[in-house]
Amino acid sequence: MAVRILGIESSCDETAAAVVDDSGTILSSIVASQLAAHARYGGVVPEIASREHGRAIVPVVRAAMDKAKLIWTDLAAIAVTVGPGLIGSLLVGATYAKSLSYALSLPLIAVNHVEGHIQAVILEARQRATPVQFPALALVVSGGHTHLFALSQKSVSEQFEYKLLGKTRDDAAGEAFDKIGKLLGFGYPGGPVIDMLAPHGNPRAIRFTLAKLREGNSLDFSFSGLKTAGLRWFQAQEMEQELENRRALRAQHPHPTLEQWLEVTPQRTLDAVASFQHTVIVELLARVQPSAGQIGARSLIVSGGVACNSGLRRAAADRRFGIPVHFPSVALSTDNAVMIAAAAFSKFQHAEFAGLDAPVYAQLSAGCIDLFRIDA
Ligand code: KG4
Ligand code: ZN
Repeated sequence: MAVRILGIESSCDETAAAVVDDSGTILSSIVASQLAAHARYGGVVPEIASREHGRAIVPVVRAAMDKAKLIWTDLAAIAVTVGPGLIGSLLVGATYAKSLSYALSLPLIAVNHVEGHIQAVILEARQRATPVQFPALALVVSGGHTHLFALSQKSVSEQFEYKLLGKTRDDAAGEAFDKIGKLLGFGYPGGPVIDMLAPHGNPRAIRFTLAKLREGNSLDFSFSGLKTAGLRWFQAQEMEQELENRRALRAQHPHPTLEQWLEVTPQRTLDAVASFQHTVIVELLARVQPSAGQIGARSLIVSGGVACNSGLRRAAADRRFGIPVHFPSVALSTDNAVMIAAAAFSKFQHAEFAGLDAPVYAQLSAGCIDLFRIDA
C-alpha cells in the first residue's frame, strides 16, 4: 500500500498543508498566503503571522485531506516544519501536527525548512524523469536564507548527506529584494515586482558595489552593502513625486500589472531596478563555479522564493556550468508543504521520528542543523 505523508508548513507567512505519496505524486497542496494581512506594514509582522496561522491551520489541513480524498487512517505519518522560522508561527504548525500525531497514533517527523526547499526540487526532478545526479550543489535563496550546500546520497535507500559550504553573513538575497522594493515604493514583497520591471531597465546603468569579504570563507555571501548602496543612490534622487504615484497606484490596485507599474516608474528607476537585480544574480552565481569544482558536482539545484526570479533562471542556464541545473516550478519555489512532506520520506524509511516534546528553532542553529544531518 502506498505510503502517504501529510506535510504541514507554518514557518513564516504561509500556512500550508500537502499530501504526497512514496511514488512522489502530489495528492494535494494547499497554501493560504497572509500577504494581504502584512502588506500595509511593509514586511511580515510576527504577531500577526502567528494569529493568522492559528486561524488558517485547521481549514488548510482539512482542505489538503479533502483534495487528496483521504481520511486520517490513510496517512502513514505527519511531517512538520520545526525551523528555522518565526517561533510563534512554527509553534502553531508544530503544536497542531503533534496533536494530530498523538490523537491518530501516527509518527511525527520534524523537518528542517531549508532541507524542504531542496527536497522539493529533487521530488520534481524525479517526476520529470530527469533525476538529480549526486553529488549536487544546492543554492537555497529565499527571504530568510542564502545557503550553499553540497548534497550527496550514496544510494536511493540511503539518507541524504549535507555539507554547508557557504551562507550569507548578513541579509538573505530575498531580504535584499524586499528592502530595495520597499525603498522604491513597490510594496512587499519586492522580489516579484523587481523581477517584472528589471527587463525594462539597463542592468549596467548603475554600479552597485558589494562588500568584498576579505576574511573567512570565500563561499560566503553578503548583501547588506547592497542595501546601503541602494539607499545612497535613492537619497541622491528626487523621488517624492514618483513614490507618491506608486503609493496611489498600490492603494487602488493590490496587484498592479506591468503596464501600471511602468506608468509610474521613470527610466532611471527602471535602470536602478535592473542594475540591482543584476548585482544580486552575479553575487549568487559567482559562488557556484568554484564550489561546483570543489565538490565535483554533477548537478546544481537552485531553490527558495528567489528561485522564481526569471533573471536568475536565465543566468543560471546561460552560464552553462557544464552540469544540469534544476529549478523548482514556481508553485514549489515559495513556501509550501509539498517540500515538507517530500523531505520526510527518507526520515520515514529510517524511522527517524520526533517526540511530542520536539522543539522549534528560530535559526539554523545547533539542534536545527542536527535535523538536517549537516556537516557544518
Ligand atoms: O521561500 P520564500 O517563500 O520564504 C522564505 O522562506 O523566506 O521566499 C520569499 C522571498 C521574498 O523575499 C520574495 O521577495 C522573494 O522570495 N521572491 C522573489 C521572487 N519571488 C519571490 N525574489 C526575486 N524574484 C522573484 N520573482
Ligand atoms: Zn522558505
